[in-house]
This record gives sequence, structure tokens and C-alpha cells, in this order.
Amino acid sequence: MQNPFPIFRAFTGLLLIIAAGSCHNPTASEKQAMNTQPDTGLVIRDVHSFARPEEAAVTHLSLGLTVDFSSKTLSGTATLTVRAAPGADTLVLDTRGLVIEKVTADGPDNAVAHRLGDEVPFLGRPLYVPLTPATRQVTVHYRTGPGAAALQWLTPEQTAGKTHPFLFTQSQAILARTWVPVQDSPGIRFTYDATVRVPKELLALMSADNPQTRNDSGVYAFRMERPIPAYLLALSVGDVSFAPVGSRTGVYAEPATLEKAAYEFAEMEKMLEAAERIYGAYAWGRYDLIVLPPSFPFGGMENPKLTFATPTILAGDRSLTSLVAHELAHSWSGNLVTNQTWNDFWLNEGFTVYFERRIMEELYGADYAQMLEVLGYQDLVNTVQDFGANSPDTQLRLNLQGRDPDDGVSDIAYEKGNAFLRRLEAVVGRAQWDGFVRKYFGAFAFQSMNTERFLDYLKKELPDAYRTADVPVWVYGRGFPADALHPKSERFEAVEKSVLAWKLGTAPGQLFTKNWSAHEWLHFIRQLPENMTPTQMGELDAAFGFTDSGNAEMLAAWLLSAVRNGYEPAYPALEKFLVTVGRRKFLVSLYAQLSKTPEGRERAKAIYAQARPNYHSVATSTLDELLK
Ligand code: BES
Ligand code: ZN
Repeated sequence: MQNPFPIFRAFTGLLLIIAAGSCHNPTASEKQAMNTQPDTGLVIRDVHSFARPEEAAVTHLSLGLTVDFSSKTLSGTATLTVRAAPGADTLVLDTRGLVIEKVTADGPDNAVAHRLGDEVPFLGRPLYVPLTPATRQVTVHYRTGPGAAALQWLTPEQTAGKTHPFLFTQSQAILARTWVPVQDSPGIRFTYDATVRVPKELLALMSADNPQTRNDSGVYAFRMERPIPAYLLALSVGDVSFAPVGSRTGVYAEPATLEKAAYEFAEMEKMLEAAERIYGAYAWGRYDLIVLPPSFPFGGMENPKLTFATPTILAGDRSLTSLVAHELAHSWSGNLVTNQTWNDFWLNEGFTVYFERRIMEELYGADYAQMLEVLGYQDLVNTVQDFGANSPDTQLRLNLQGRDPDDGVSDIAYEKGNAFLRRLEAVVGRAQWDGFVRKYFGAFAFQSMNTERFLDYLKKELPDAYRTADVPVWVYGRGFPADALHPKSERFEAVEKSVLAWKLGTAPGQLFTKNWSAHEWLHFIRQLPENMTPTQMGELDAAFGFTDSGNAEMLAAWLLSAVRNGYEPAYPALEKFLVTVGRRKFLVSLYAQLSKTPEGRERAKAIYAQARPNYHSVATSTLDELLK
């Protein structure tokens, strides 16, 4: 049965951990490995939210918003249904940059004396709303401020169609509070509905049941009947159309991009079916995807029922669809069982990377999935090296107190998380491991999960795995655990032979590269020597056309090499890429590589000055820091 008060179920879970605390006392070596503040007390605090859900928790959000492109604001009301503990006298919400006009309780005539607390860096300001024992609903009348960090307002020129503006949100990790006054903590879930008014030529979509066509009124109604955390609130408004893929799946994109998108993602329904075979029924009804304009700062975002995706995965050959498998996998790991705080982010992403590759294995075979595994492993090795093996940021369980949770977004959560799960799988075997994961998703569906609670569950369900794999070292320790598996790919070994042949003098055109997939090419580019002469690069380019590649992953890897080696012929492509693409992962690596020399840094700054208006705040906040 669905628990009508999800937050209280989560809270019961917390009580259970504390009750079970006696069998979870860390040993001295575990404590040493931890290097984090162990959680104490009854309530596990989310240090990135002002909310006090144990006193008063939001269980439902009802939004009424008008989207105004000329003033770049959202305005309207957020009506919050509140479940308060006996004696609770205040509802605390998170806000950042919102203009609060008035707050009413239980009806339009009953204005209450709300108060905004002081601004805290990253977190914004708490909104205190007084409660009486009778209060059930609170309505906040508000509008978004200028530069609301979740929102990106695009001019027509910044879209594919060039005729209509576009708006999209990015709420993860703690940006929901910049467009909705809400309890913005992943440990707090609520259902929602929304009425959104947009210009008549545009279609509004949310992380909810969605329309498939425009209507004449420009007013759209949405419902999300499953409880979700605030970071999964999402809105997109633009000139987009819909194309079905399967009976439960489809794609939205600007008309100019729709056909390409429908081709690229034609296997979405099969992915969904594969995922269900592996870890059980999909809990959200439909699964659709929207291709956003290129400024979208991530590859993908797992907004429930509607993944938001970058157009940089439209390679034309379906070679980058593991990203769709990734966002789909979050429908279990993340959206169903959710990291309780951003310190537990690895639970979301580590499980999702693992599940993503299982889906790809199911569809395209073990040798395909193994290539993804090796590429991910390379990312992990590089990240540990960049951070330093003794950096606290190499721990799975993080301590982000006083920091922006965005700082915790690294390949550690993704790839060390995945490597840990691979290790556990190897200890008990796939059959037993899959049984465990299935049961885990079932047992904690629509709840939040933290690292300690996960370890307790693991210890109880898979005691052998817990004992054999060095679990506390994996989770609380730094660097690279000694018992990590080293993934190998035969297809990549063949690529390495070609790289070696080239190094020994074989002309590029004579190399064995037949039938290589984008992943093999990516591996080839990554395996090229750190230092090459412009002539060598020119020869490779002439034979393989890397600078003109339509595959963003290959192009970004090649451009990195071009910058490192001062290969001038690729610079126009580099500039074009940096000015049009807003995907932070690519931007950070390219700008950082440019910045390694004084001339490069000047060039980076000049390009950035031109490109910055095209980027989302999530990207500029990182790059402002990098290029300051
Ligand atoms: N949920 C993340 C994106 C995210 C993480 C946004 C943290 C804000 C804060 C999403 O699922 C993701 O991991 N995207 C990756 C996809 C890749 C790993 C396949 C990306 O955008 O590159
Ligand atoms: Zn993810």
C-alpha cells in the first residue's frame, strides 16, 4: 500500500537505523577510514536545506505559474500541503532569490506573517511560515528573481529553429529553491500538480504526465502522483513537437531536430523493457525524453517521466545512447530509491552507472558494455590522479558541509561507485547480486537512503559480500581500493594494437580500423601519445577526419589533444564547439586544458567572453571560478 505520508515513512526508517545503531558501531579502523563526521542524534540533517521536516513536512505541492519571456520571470503561487508534528509552530521552506509577495494559510483571505531569514552562501534564505494546529495548506505568492539559477531563458537565436524563445529548468542539486519555495532536500518527498500558462506558440512540459500536442489556450495542467524530491521538479517551455517511439516511450524536440531525435532514440522502448527484466517493473507510467537546445549544461537529467537531454548525443548512429540508459536507470536508482543527502550522492550515481551498463549489455552484448566499463575506469583513474589519492573528495561518502553540493559531482560518485558494486557482484555472483538489488529497490521504493542505512542492509542481506569486499574502505576510504577489478575489453585491445602500429610507423590509412564503433574511435583518440607534432596530428586528421567529427565525445577528446599539442587547424572547430555547446563536462575539460599555457589562457578567456551568454548558470558558476 502506498504510504500517504512519505516523509513519515522515511522518518520511521531513520528511527530504525538508530535502533539498529548498536550493531553498526564502527571499529577503530573503520572510524579512521571514515574521516567524516559520523551522524549522531535522531535526525540525519541535510546540511543543504533549511527545512525541518520532523516538525512540518510538505506532502503535496500545487503550482500555478505564468511564464513571462519578456521579463524572464515565473510568477504565481505555490500551495503546499503540510503535515505537522503535534505542537509544531513553523513551516520552514528553502528559497533563493525568490521575491515573496505574500503568504496565506488555509484560504485566500488569511494572510500570515512570514519571515525570510538571512542569506547563506549557496543555500539562499529560509522562509518561515507560522502554523497553527489547524493549518493544512500554505500558499506562497511569489515570483522568481533575476538570474534565478535553475532557469535558462534562451533567445530564438539560441535554439535550433531560431524563431521562438525557450526556457528550461535544472533543479539538481539545490536549485529547485530558485524557482519554487519548497523543502529542497532529497530526503523529503511530495506529490505535485501544476497549472502553467505559456505563450500560445509554445508547449510546456514537466516531470509529470505530459501533453503531446499544443493547445489553443497556452495553459497546461500537470500531475505527478508519485512522491518525488524537489530536485526532480522540472519545466521546459519551447516550440517542441512529439514523436512516439513505443507504446510507453517517445521523444520531444524542436521541429528542426525531431526526426533526427526519433531515429537516434528508436531503441528507447527496448531499453525500458530490458531495464524491467533486470530490476523489476517501471514505476512511473510513461518514459519520454526531450532533446533540449545545446546550452543544456548536462548530458542528461533524470526528471521523472521526462528525461532532459543534450543534443550532443545526436551522433546520427545511435552510438551515444548509453546516456539514455543512464537516465532511464535513474527511474530506479535515484528517483525510486533516493540519496537522502548530497553526501550520499554515490548511491544515486554509482548504482545508475552500474545499471546503465547492464541495460547496454542486455541490448548490445557484453563486449559493448565492456567498452563502456573500460572508458569509465579510465575516467576514474584520471579523477583519482587529479584529486590526489589522499583527497577527501575521493571518498564515496562525502562531507559537503559548508560547500556547494555541486562540488561532490565527480567521477568518484559515478565510477568508484560503480566499481564498488562490480566488486560486490564479483564476490557473490551475478544471480545473487541481482536478487539483492531487486529486493533493495522494492524494499525502499519512494524512500530515501543514506550510506549507513545501505551498508546495514548490505550486511544483513549479503553478509559474505560485506565481509569479503573491504566495504568500509570502499565507502569511507580514499583513493583506489586495492581489491578493485581492472576491466578489460578485447575490442579495445585490438585498438591498442593499431595505436602501437601507428607509433611504429604505419601510415594512418594503413591501420586496421574496419567497423570500429564510436567507442573504439574514442579509445583510439584517448590512447594517442600525450605529445604529438602538428604534422602527426594533421596526418591522423587527414585520414580519419576527427576535426569534422559529428560525434561530440570523439570531437571533444580530439580537441583536447589538439589544444595540448597546439594543433592550429582544429582551433576554428574548437571555438565553434565552445560557443555552441553548453555541456559542462566538455567545457571544463577544454577550458582547463587551454588554461595550462599563458597564451592558451588568454584564448580561453576571449572565447569564454563570447560564449558565456550561451551557457546555463550551472556551467558559468564552475567556469567563472576556473577562468577568473
Ligand atoms: N543526475 C545527473 C546530472 C546531475 C548530477 C545534475 C548532479 C546536477 C547535479 C545525470 O543523471 C547524469 O549523471 N548525467 C550525466 C550522464 C552520464 C553519466 C551518462 C551527464 O550529464 O554527463
Ligand atoms: Zn546520473
